[in-house]
Amino acid sequence: MDYYSLVARFITEALNPSVYTYEVSPVFLLVEEAVIKKMIEFIGWEEGDGIFNPGGSVSNMYAMNLARYKFCPEIKEKGLSGLPRLVLFASEECHYSMKKAASFLGIGTENVYFIKTDERGKMIPEELEKQGSAPFLVCATAGTTVLGAFDPLDKIADICENHGLWLHVDASWGGSALISRKHRRLLHGIHRADSVAWNPHKMLLAGIQCCALLVKDNSGLLKKCYSAEAAYLFQQDKFYDVSYDTGDKSIQCSRRPDAFKFWLMWKALGTTGLEERVNRALALARYCLTVLKIKKREGFQLLLEPEYANVCFWYIPPSLRKMEDGPEFWEKLHQVAPIIKERMMKKGSMMLGYQPHWGKVNFFRQVVISPQVSREDMDFLLDEIELLAKDL
Ligand SMILES: Cc1ncc(COP(=O)(O)O)c(C=O)c1O
Repeated sequence: MDYYSLVARFITEALNPSVYTYEVSPVFLLVEEAVIKKMIEFIGWEEGDGIFNPGGSVSNMYAMNLARYKFCPEIKEKGLSGLPRLVLFASEECHYSMKKAASFLGIGTENVYFIKTDERGKMIPEELEKQGSAPFLVCATAGTTVLGAFDPLDKIADICENHGLWLHVDASWGGSALISRKHRRLLHGIHRADSVAWNPHKMLLAGIQCCALLVKDNSGLLKKCYSAEAAYLFQQDKFYDVSYDTGDKSIQCSRRPDAFKFWLMWKALGTTGLEERVNRALALARYCLTVLKIKKREGFQLLLEPEYANVCFWYIPPSLRKMEDGPEFWEKLHQVAPIIKERMMKKGSMMLGYQPHWGKVNFFRQVVISPQVSREDMDFLLDEIELLAKDL
């Protein structure tokens, strides 16, 4: 819990504003504009536009629709009929919201081509180049959900530039590293993207939901794509500058002032405070990983060396340690994480996610972002797994 963000929530809950026109939400509208401007600066664009949305999934959907609109602007009036089949490329490690967006927007999930990734979960640029069809969008991921991998943005941007393709970077999870001078290199090349999804509600801990879609275009593309010019809200003969009525850039009508949570927190902590938050989260992941134990402690086996805060590992309980590597071993190991999870939940000692992933049997995924978590908590986590699984 970030307390500044919580205070911001108390304020917005009490005021109950809706951010569509300047007349009803002057301050929150300006706050959103200021925050978007700052986020754009961190991406490295000289100018741009953006909108806060209820979730990174929605930001991805916005980006997909925007890229399609840029590709064939007549779609806004004419709809899908008369259009050729459109395809988009995303890595096989991309967030599942890409599939959802494709089905929601009438593109179809079969038209999302999944590009192969390497053993660390990063998109392989040569595989992207190899694809035969011409897409209207390439989606790269900066900080994949499960493995925390960063696609090679610069190389992908080269390909997109050569072929004139819209590059969207889903930095919902990894975007916060932009704030850290130490870790922003993970997103090297992000300034070459046409759009970026970034969730301050993840690593920066702004209250849920706090997510922005940022767009490099500054010619009003967002508004052209989404506006419906409702006369009862967006009158053009108001006494003030109506360019401040930014609500028509959104697919929503009523919209919460989510940017305020980020604004207040940013004002209170400063960029340095946010940077410390990111550095601390990544240092804790490192602690869990190297300083200690997973590498050295019996039974813990890393999936891969993490790039970000996602520490993925198996716990091999005593009874499986002497077993030969083979299908039976993996089948048995697959059942271990759900049992440990059940035990930790019933005991009420902690919560830790697990999942199978691309042929890999159930493994734990440890992601720590809270500044309240200490090294002792990390030790506890490993001790507790051992304790819960000692009879397995
Ligand atoms: C890479 C990535 N993109 C998008 C999302 C979706 O964000 P939200 O939960 O805000 O819709 C997530 C969430 O985990 C994510 O990890």
